[in-house]
Order: sequence, then structure tokens, then C-alpha cells
Amino acid sequence: MDTSNEVKEQEKYRKKVKEINQNKIQKYTMLTMGCQLNENDSEKLCGMLEQMGYQRTNNQKEADLALFNTCCVRENAEDKLFGKLGELKRLKEEKGIIIAIGGCMMQEKHITDKIKESYPFVDILFGTHTLHKFPENLYKVLEEKKKLEDIIDIDGKIYEGLPIKRDSNIKASVTIMNGCNNFCSYCIVPYVRGRERSRKPRDVINEVRELARRGYQEITLLGQNVNSYLRVERERGMELEAYEGVNSFATLLKAINKIEGIERIRFVSPHPKDFTDDVMEAIASCDKVCKLVHLPLQSGNSKVLKEMNRNYTKEQYLTLVETMKAKIPDLTLSTDIIVGFPGETDEEFEDTLDVVRKVKFEQVYMFIYSRRVGTPGDKMENQIPEEHKHNRFNKLKALVESQIEENNQKYVGSVQRVLVEGESKNNKELLTGRTDSNKVVIFEASRELIGKVIDLKIVSEHMWYLKGEIEI
Ligand code: SAH
Ligand code: SF4
Ligand code: F3S
Repeated sequence: MDTSNEVKEQEKYRKKVKEINQNKIQKYTMLTMGCQLNENDSEKLCGMLEQMGYQRTNNQKEADLALFNTCCVRENAEDKLFGKLGELKRLKEEKGIIIAIGGCMMQEKHITDKIKESYPFVDILFGTHTLHKFPENLYKVLEEKKKLEDIIDIDGKIYEGLPIKRDSNIKASVTIMNGCNNFCSYCIVPYVRGRERSRKPRDVINEVRELARRGYQEITLLGQNVNSYLRVERERGMELEAYEGVNSFATLLKAINKIEGIERIRFVSPHPKDFTDDVMEAIASCDKVCKLVHLPLQSGNSKVLKEMNRNYTKEQYLTLVETMKAKIPDLTLSTDIIVGFPGETDEEFEDTLDVVRKVKFEQVYMFIYSRRVGTPGDKMENQIPEEHKHNRFNKLKALVESQIEENNQKYVGSVQRVLVEGESKNNKELLTGRTDSNKVVIFEASRELIGKVIDLKIVSEHMWYLKGEIEI
């Protein structure tokens, strides 16, 4: 589906906005919630804004425009947004700041209804499928001085060639597919992001080539289910343009591995049920692909997994981990876990702890189950009381932390390849970087090393980071 005309059309609006602002520099704030996909979308929104003559600021008081890119995967994001909107009311009254809210939460009708009722001063509401039209929407609001809502409930198309202002000049994210077809019963994402659709191999590869040309060292491929890249297109028998032999996730990894200049390739998230042998083989054989695989477990109990609609059992997950460990030398794993899914008993939760004990993850992202309106999980009657959920969360957290402490020991004395990312946030005298397994390493070295991959000897471990030294 060719969308180049629609993208060109937006170029006109970018110019028009600049004209309305009489080429005077305007300031904007941007608050991004949610996952890396949302962060990548925000980089595109920032790209559009900067081309319209806007400059980013962290000071809300001096901003002419406040932009929010929202997430709705768990409840806490809602409280955060409403809190911020309350704070903005005064700025709206005093200086007429433009307020725009986009992203996943805007695809939920009960949320947009609440905003329109309780925060009627918000200017633009836009959803996940109309992000590319932000310049047009902003133009209309500035020109007509009216409120505007641009939210559609059909699967958005893929828009190539939008401007982008990236957060880093060392690491870059590249979204390879949008949407999700899995409908895990707790999850809102398929409802707010639509069905799975992949970008063309040519577009993905050319984006990575351009990033390599501009000196980027690390690429993270993004999607809700990356290992089903091009699956829907293959299943529907859609004609795929032959490009560098790419027709699946495994072949995409191989093609990107060949791009000169890129040092590291990461990807999030694969789904355990789709982790095929060709993907394992590609990870093992591609030298640039990091050997840390994020493999979301969600629960370690087969009955809970069935209720979650995850399509694998505890045993299948453990077997997959064994197979991967056998096929991929130096493999490390991270995961996502939800505690307190409806109906989960104490014994069933023990299975989650059991898998964590067995797999020894490098990192575990832990979440308390949050009811999402419109999902099957929300309609289940056997919801777990908050107190039980918190107790389980604390139990899991204690186990994970003790494992991380133990696991960190294996680094002490070893030499690690580290991508140097910049100054350490807490101590500007020190530099910070990451290992292949995504561990933070802090060390003393010349700033000239920023953006390079270097060897560091690990001298001590500190729970959430390692200390390193340059070996002479
Ligand atoms: N597509 C990715 C994850 C998307 S959401 C995947 O399948 O791995 C990121 C994480 O948020 C999920 O892995 C899950 O652990 C968590 N999550 C999703 N819905 C949730 C809910 N309703 N309550 C609590 N955590 C949830
Ligand atoms: Fe949500 Fe499941 Fe899709 Fe991940 S795979 S986005 S958890 S529905
Ligand atoms: Fe949140 Fe949307 Fe990502 S709901 S987790 S920002 S896809």
C-alpha cells in the first residue's frame, strides 16, 4: 500500500505551521509513557515538530505546546496522565499553551470520554493510527482555534519516510512491525495497536544502512512479536518483494548482520510460541546479534498460561530454554512476569518461582496484574485481592534480587565487550556502557571512547551495575 502521497501531503502542513508561527521558534515538552515502540513513535513526533520550528524544553512554563504519547498497558499510566493534565490547566488559562495527547490510551473510548468531560481544554486527541497526520492536526488547531479529535479504529497503514529526531546518536530503535495478533487475555495492546503488519524488508534494511552511515553502533529491532515478522504477509500469500533474501525474522537478522558499521543488534520482543529453529540458528551464527534474548514468560504455571492464552506450557517454555542454551553459546535470558492474574492460586504462583529458579534470568521485569477494560481478563470473576498480588510481587522480587546478586558474581574478574554510551548520570567523571547481556558497566576512561565498543575488566558488582577497568 503506497502511502508516499499522504506523507508528502504532511510536508505541506509542516511548512504551513511554520508560517503560522511566523518562523518564530516555539518550545515544546514531550512526555512519553510505555514501551520502546512508543519511544520510537515519540522520536518521529519530535522529528515532525522540529521541522515545524519547535524546540524541545524540559521547562513546562516556557512551553508553547505540551505533547503526551501515552501507554495503557497498566493502570498507573492513567493516573500519571490525569495528574499532569490537572497541572496544565493553569498554563492553558494563563498563556494558551496547546495541549496534544496521542498514543495507545487514546484508542480507549472511556479514556477520551473522560478527557473531554474533565479536561475539556485539551486541544488535540490523536490515536496510534494517525500519528503521521500530526502536522495537519496541529495546523488545523492553530488556524481554526478549535479542538480536534483524530482517532480511527481500523488498522493504520505503514508510513515510511517520516522525519525523526533520535534520542541518541549511538543506539537506535527500528520498528519492524506494528500491532499484535496474539490476544493474550490480560493485554490491551491488540485492541489499541491493531493487527500485525510488517514493514517491507527494503525499508527496514535501508533505514539500518542509513543509521550505519551516520555512525550508529547498536540497533534494536522492535515489534510486539518480532519473530512473526512477515508471517501474516506470508500466510496471506501476499507477494513479497525479493530483497536481500529476507522473508522472515531469521533472514532479516542475517541481512542486518551484514551491514557494515553496525556493531550490535538487539530485538524485543519475541514470543516463546513462535521461537523457531531458524531464529535460534540466526542468533547463534550472526556475530553482531547480542546473545541476550528477552523471552517473556508471564507465568510459570501451565493452567494460568492457558487462561492467559499464551499457547505454551511450563514444560514447553523450559524445553525451549534448554534448546536455546544448547544452540546459542553464551546465551543469557531476560523476561517479563505478571503476578496475580485472575484465578492464580498460591500453588500456581509457586510454579512461576520455580521457573525463575531454574532459568536464572539475567533480568526480570515484574508486573502486578492490572485489569484492562475490554480484555477477557477483566471479565474473569476470580480477580485476586490487591494485598495477595502485592505479597506475591514482593516474594518474586526477593527471589529475583537474590539471583541477580548471585549472577553478578560470574562477571567479576571477567573481560566484557562494552559499548560506551556516555557519561554516567550520577558521576560525570565516569563513563557508562553496556555489556552484550545489557548490564550497565561504570568505569573511568577518556571521553573519546564514547560510541566505541571496548574490552573492560569487571572489578566489582553492585546489584544494578558493574564496575569495570580498562586493561592495560
Ligand atoms: N508484546 C510483548 C509485551 C508487550 S507489553 C510481549 O508479548 O512480550 C509488556 C509487558 O507488560 C508484557 O510482557 C506483560 O508482562 C506486561 N503486561 C501486559 N498487560 C498487562 C496487564 N494487564 N497487567 C500487568 N502487566 C501487563
Ligand atoms: Fe500483548 Fe500478548 Fe501481544 Fe504481547 S503478545 S502485545 S502480551 S497480546
Ligand atoms: Fe503501552 Fe502501547 Fe507500548 S499500550 S506498552 S505504549 S504498545
